[in-house]
Amino acid sequence: MLQDDAEGGGGVALKDLDDILSESIRRNGESLVAVLQDIQEHYNYLPERALRSLSRKTGVPLIDIYRVATFYNSFSLVPRGKHQIVVCAGTTCHVRGASKVTEEISRVLGIGPGQVSADGNFSLDTVNCLGCCAFAPVMVVDGEYHGNLTPAKTRKILTSLKAKWLLPAGEADERGLVDDGDAEETEGA
Ligand code: FES
Repeated sequence: MLQDDAEGGGGVALKDLDDILSESIRRNGESLVAVLQDIQEHYNYLPERALRSLSRKTGVPLIDIYRVATFYNSFSLVPRGKHQIVVCAGTTCHVRGASKVTEEISRVLGIGPGQVSADGNFSLDTVNCLGCCAFAPVMVVDGEYHGNLTPAKTRKILTSLKAKWLLPAGEADERGLVDDGDAEETEGA
């Protein structure tokens, strides 16, 4: 058992942390990025306690781990929602109504940019450009791009996904709630 993990806290399950790190290091060897991906996949962010433990287990200086963790936008050092919505606030998206899209997302999910819902299910963030301005305004939901958004279209996509996320597995399909087919996904994003 990791020594300072025995002090508890941080919302990180101690046994989980030890097991996750051991298994990930065994599978990924010296690939620090791959181990960080495993940690983030489990906790939805990179808890400081996990990074400190990783440093001790691998001998990689903590500063180097932080260097990698902060280099990639896909890693987060603060708690994130289980489902992550990122809306583009870049110039093109802004001109084409991104702020109204963001307001609609906030209405549907009850959170603002930079916030995580109280139940930990959703987080909302903004970025400056997602690199697919031709489809502006654009949002990414759990890695899936949705473009040419309007507030109504955004509401439809999120309402459908929210129902799916909050229902037991399979039930949303049975009830015909999984309908994001109108979401015009971008290509080459
Ligand atoms: S400004 Fe939104 S994708 Fe480029």
